[in-house]
Amino acid sequence: MSNPQMDQFSPLQRFSVVFFFSLAVSLLFISLSLKLLRTRPWCSCAICRDYTTGKWAEEFPNLCDWAAAQLRRSPTNTIHIHVLGNIITANPENVEHILKTRFENYPKGQPFSSILGDLLGRGIFNVDGELWRFQRKVAALELSAAAVRSFSLRIISSEVSSRLLPLLNSVSTVDLQDVFKRLSMDCICKISFGVDPACLELDRPMSEFVAAFDSATSLSAARALAVAPLAWKIKRILCIGSERELRKAVGMIDVLAREVIRRRRKLRNFAGGEDLLSRFMGYIHDEEFLRDIVVSFLLAGRDTVASALTAFFYLLSEHEEEEEAIMAEISRVLGDAAPSWEKLREMNYTRAAVYESLRLYPPVQFDSKFAAGGDVLPDGTAVEKGARVTYHAYAMGRMEKAWGKDCFEFRPRRWLGEDGRFKAESPFKYPVFHGGARLCIGKEMAEMEVMLVAVSVVREFRVRRVEPGAPLRFAPGLTATVRGGLPVQVLRRRGLERE
Ligand code: HEM
Repeated sequence: MSNPQMDQFSPLQRFSVVFFFSLAVSLLFISLSLKLLRTRPWCSCAICRDYTTGKWAEEFPNLCDWAAAQLRRSPTNTIHIHVLGNIITANPENVEHILKTRFENYPKGQPFSSILGDLLGRGIFNVDGELWRFQRKVAALELSAAAVRSFSLRIISSEVSSRLLPLLNSVSTVDLQDVFKRLSMDCICKISFGVDPACLELDRPMSEFVAAFDSATSLSAARALAVAPLAWKIKRILCIGSERELRKAVGMIDVLAREVIRRRRKLRNFAGGEDLLSRFMGYIHDEEFLRDIVVSFLLAGRDTVASALTAFFYLLSEHEEEEEAIMAEISRVLGDAAPSWEKLREMNYTRAAVYESLRLYPPVQFDSKFAAGGDVLPDGTAVEKGARVTYHAYAMGRMEKAWGKDCFEFRPRRWLGEDGRFKAESPFKYPVFHGGARLCIGKEMAEMEVMLVAVSVVREFRVRRVEPGAPLRFAPGLTATVRGGLPVQVLRRRGLERE
């Protein structure tokens, strides 16, 4: 039977239509096949089987502990999870290659941008190229300014003395992780936007904004772990299930972020402003872009700091001798004085303890890039164009090769030189703050915040876990968060033990 529409065309035109249609279908088929070959969703190698069946949970408390064990076992300290199309490495030479030597070949990439795109938009975390370079330049310039340092020290000190210490003084048991999340939210909001959400006022419920932010980050993180990303993409188009929740949470964040920007702009017209948003407003006028920057800084500075503090106090509560060593340093360096930026810099032991706890419990446990072109890593691993390449900071802190036989132990002294001074490690062996061109811009501020809180709490209180000895279990998310929080007993020092 002839097709009347096709009859209107000449034989050559008909041939061309059929030819190009077949070519398009074949190209689509080839590209889908290549994608499938790269991710191999059917793979049944031991690593993929353990991952997909959840068998890892029989032996390990956390997926990151399982990954660390696999990476230690591998002769190159690199593994391939085929079902995710993900090459994971804990090899410092590979990390240097990815983050520095061939930085341009390992951007965040389109898959990452689409996973976090709804939440972060064009914010610094989620972009490459010019858009990233511009934000990086402005943020690095502003964050390194002496004025920002003293502004942030003032804010963190006041949050600690007027809220955190009175709160700990008023309770006998508390979830320390929750307290640190509230504290870091207050600090980052005040530093970034000059707005005080007062999360540490426990009698106030967590604001809608904080709840929406928590929900949006965990739902976005769940996208990254999906074996079949197509599933969340379809749910997103249909706006159902978790994607519907994510859209709602992001919608709420949008409304509130815009409100913050509007108010800041009004205030700024009258009296400048020391916060980061006011500073960014000097360079950027696009409202949408400012919203994305606001959200990126929240993500950067909130959960990471809370996670670092939670791990620090978890480790101290199990290592009384280290707690006492820090206390001795506080008495020697500070006496009864308030901690200043300069004094904190003199506290080598406390700094070593902070770095050691971050080694064992990095807030960003792993970080992925997508290869722009084919490559070979220094350990010989072949990387195909488009492959996901991940460095695993959590596993890297547990490598005997790098840290010695006692790599699982909390031993702050490993960070001290013979002269007793703190000595840093290569960021590629210790990529807790990333490394190379995208090294964390807030590193100094984060260090100061964690040390200031650590010193202020240790000098007044001892915290002890309500359930000592139990291993930490992490909830899935962009930043390491302990499932069930960190319930502790709070005991006052100076002979004022609670009855
Ligand atoms: C203990 C606390 C912190 C840790 C462990 C940490 C860790 C990291 C890591 C691993 C990255 C790389 C992320 C990626 O590219 O995927 C990063 C980037 C970044 N961090 Fe931090 N961070 C901390 C605190 C902060 C704070 C307090 C701020 C800001 C006030 C901040 C601002 C940033 C920014 C803006 C970037 C993006 C840099 C870029 O892409 O060029 N961070 N951080």
